[in-house]
Amino acid sequence: MNLQIFDSPDQLHEAGAGIIGGLLQTKPSAVLGLATGGTPVGIYEELVKAHKRGLVRFKEATTFNLDEYVGLPGTHPQSYRYYMNEHLFSQVDLAPERTHIPDGMSPDPQEECRRYDALLQRAGQIDLQLLGIGHNGHIGFNEPDHALISGTHVVALREETRLANARFFDRLEAVPTHALTMGVATILKARTIVLVVKGEDKADIVHRALTGPITTDCPASLLQTHPNLTVLMDAEAGRRFR
Ligand code: PGA
Repeated sequence: MNLQIFDSPDQLHEAGAGIIGGLLQTKPSAVLGLATGGTPVGIYEELVKAHKRGLVRFKEATTFNLDEYVGLPGTHPQSYRYYMNEHLFSQVDLAPERTHIPDGMSPDPQEECRRYDALLQRAGQIDLQLLGIGHNGHIGFNEPDHALISGTHVVALREETRLANARFFDRLEAVPTHALTMGVATILKARTIVLVVKGEDKADIVHRALTGPITTDCPASLLQTHPNLTVLMDAEAGRRFR
């Protein structure tokens, strides 16, 4: 496990963008697993800057996002499709057909999960999976549970997750109750995983995930089993590792 703690958010964002940009330079056709939420925004900003300077190209890359809310169309400002278009896809040379996010509006969510897994299988191994961590230890929307699911599936969001994400919505009731998420086996199959953690409020959970027992009660703890995990933390999140 490669742990890096940064004193400034800018350094963390540059490091994250540097890892992704470096991969695209050595392997332009890389398959990227991407994440949403507050944490990766600065990394996407740096990638867009690097792209505009001609340093990073996405033309041959393929992307798969971790998750999407059930019931939000891609035109909804809080959908993850909208987020990715805003923060990355519309600003770089990535053709829409090379970007993949589960369709939260599918009339048959189970079928949508099967379709997504088939696309992932066809793309081969994810070269680099970017991840955040929830306050309850979730990765993607794989919530703590007595058992975890390997492939893409429909998940009922835990109340703490809806509360955490309510900051992006007008009110708590507007936060969807369900989501589609990549499963933990897909995540763990990635060649490289980059976990990004920011903020004092994540200090305890990231410490527990990376140093505590490996348990489905804290899905991020499974990352301890990955042979090529890099963790980028700001000083607040990394406090317990100093
Ligand atoms: P956040 O979400 O980046 O908005 O804190 C992370 C997550 O829930 O995985």
